[in-house]
Amino acid sequence: MSYIAQLNHQLRPQPSTAYRVLDLFAGCGGLSLGFEAAGFHSVGYEMDERAAETYSKNLKGPCYAQKLSIETEYDLGFDVVIGGPPCQPFSVGGHQKGVSDERNGFPIFIKAVEQLQPRLFMFENVRGMLYANKWYLDEVTASLRSMGYRIEHRLLNAVHYGVPQNRERLFVVGHKAKFHFPKPQHHKVTVGEAIGDLVETIMDESKILTPSMDVYVAKYEKASSCINPRDLYMEKPARTLTCRNIAAPTGDMQRVKLQDGRRRRISVREAARLQSFPDWFEFVGTETNQYYQIGNAVPPLLAYQLAQSVRAYLEETVDEEIELTATNHVPTGIQMQLF
Ligand SMILES: C[S@@+](CC[C@H](N)C(=O)[O-])C[C@H]1O[C@@H](n2cnc3c(N)ncnc32)[C@H](O)[C@@H]1O
Repeated sequence: MSYIAQLNHQLRPQPSTAYRVLDLFAGCGGLSLGFEAAGFHSVGYEMDERAAETYSKNLKGPCYAQKLSIETEYDLGFDVVIGGPPCQPFSVGGHQKGVSDERNGFPIFIKAVEQLQPRLFMFENVRGMLYANKWYLDEVTASLRSMGYRIEHRLLNAVHYGVPQNRERLFVVGHKAKFHFPKPQHHKVTVGEAIGDLVETIMDESKILTPSMDVYVAKYEKASSCINPRDLYMEKPARTLTCRNIAAPTGDMQRVKLQDGRRRRISVREAARLQSFPDWFEFVGTETNQYYQIGNAVPPLLAYQLAQSVRAYLEETVDEEIELTATNHVPTGIQMQLF
């Protein structure tokens, strides 16, 4: 089956189990989409109204357009809590202020886990959290461990899960038995397989690079010691899509080279395909808003495989779940630093 046909069929939301998942900081629903396709009933919370609208338009579950805080009260009865706490404080391009950054969503995530006591939780973040802000990741995981969870983390590259893009992100899972991350695949899907049919047909003149932009990009690449131009190559996976490199014409922008030699910034649909959103998934809001929703998302195809691992955990470990002993608990003082 082609990549596009696979997305369009495999990622249809089909809640078919009794399992309920709560998605905090849900964005447009990339992570939730994978869970719904794996049979979960989802509920999202997202403060950006356009992103919440996109979620509600495409998923079966509701998304509340609400700004979360540590005071937020949730309905009970969620088996799983997932989320992408805001990552600006931890991205390498950001200022790396960690816990002191008011956009930090981890205290909210931790409070939700404390309140709901899910059987499993999972959060996603940028890889920078494993480096300059590792001390904070350690505090977050210690706090969650003190609630009785085993914590495991993996740096997963979406390209190993059928997504035509090199995108490394940190996934942290908390559970009380045995969890198996999905197995990576050897086959890599290429840009050509994902958007080959769109490249020459979409002719949005405003996205064609002007000769002066070409000169600007060439200077930018020379300054950043680029050996090959950072165009998308049809025979390879894409480099990481970010809000910045898809939403605006910067030196680093994601663009394709047309047969006539001109270059063009990628469209919203092309960006969505490279992030593994199916073609039936429609984004709401201005074009910039849509690019941001896509750049922020967990690729749904990767989310689907993670969700299948979560479903297997829930189905297979009912009687196995363990009570961690008091010796695994950490002093509550650590939690105090977080809130
Ligand atoms: C990295 S994105 C999440 C992407 C999502 N997991 C997906 O797969 O599509 C983080 C989202 O958190 C939202 N957000 C940040 N702070 C929030 C808050 N206090 N309450 C609700 N949403 C918030 C942002 O608007 C942004 O859409």
